[in-house]
Amino acid sequence: MLRPIAIAPSILAADGGDLSAETQAAIEAGADRIHLDIMDGHFVPNLSFGPAVVAALRPLGDIHFDTHLMIAPCDPFLEAFAEAGSDTITVHAEAGAHLHRSLQAIRALGKRAGVAINPATPAVAVEHVLDLADLVLCMTVNPGFGGQRFIAGMTDKIAALCAMIGDRPIDIEVDGGISQETAGLAAAAGANVFVAGSSVFGGARDTYAGAIAGIRQAAEKGRD
Ligand code: DX5
Ligand code: ZN
Repeated sequence: MLRPIAIAPSILAADGGDLSAETQAAIEAGADRIHLDIMDGHFVPNLSFGPAVVAALRPLGDIHFDTHLMIAPCDPFLEAFAEAGSDTITVHAEAGAHLHRSLQAIRALGKRAGVAINPATPAVAVEHVLDLADLVLCMTVNPGFGGQRFIAGMTDKIAALCAMIGDRPIDIEVDGGISQETAGLAAAAGANVFVAGSSVFGGARDTYAGAIAGIRQAAEKGRD
């Protein structure tokens, strides 16, 4: 099954003092989705921002908001991120004991439900929730920080997820160290949504469009 390719710049790597302009620039540069990384200093060893920032950015455009919750517990905050304007809300399989409940709650809020797994978590961890998921996120770095190196061994897991998902209408997203150099490897394994932080926001604003186009081209080529 050939799923449409989408590039999702992560504003974690953007200029934090100018997030509106940065998000606007990514939209104008051809982003398909905006990836919003939420960190709690507990599930991951870093802090980022909360639903108020998501809500503040929401009026900038009707682009898909892809919210990645790296928080535990996650259930108490699902409604706030839904109300803030997320389109997809992704929770980690490792973040709580009741993954079914979290995914059901996201869908009950009228949002697309995503499930993420850390590099150390096997693909089989999501097998029993596939009927409740619209997106599976395979972390290709250990979550918590932008600018880390893509873990090449994750391509086997992406392929295993892809085989497990089969023809279900579920996005296969990769996050961490995605660039023009690595997007092709992930695409060849079956990924179709590519989160990119430092490889988009690492340069000056007039380079964002070229960076997004380059990642898209690398992903398309990886599929050939
Ligand atoms: C990592 C985050 C990523 C991060 C990616 O914990 O989930 O979304 O922003 O950043 P890069 O693309 O720089 O690896
Ligand atoms: Zn992320």
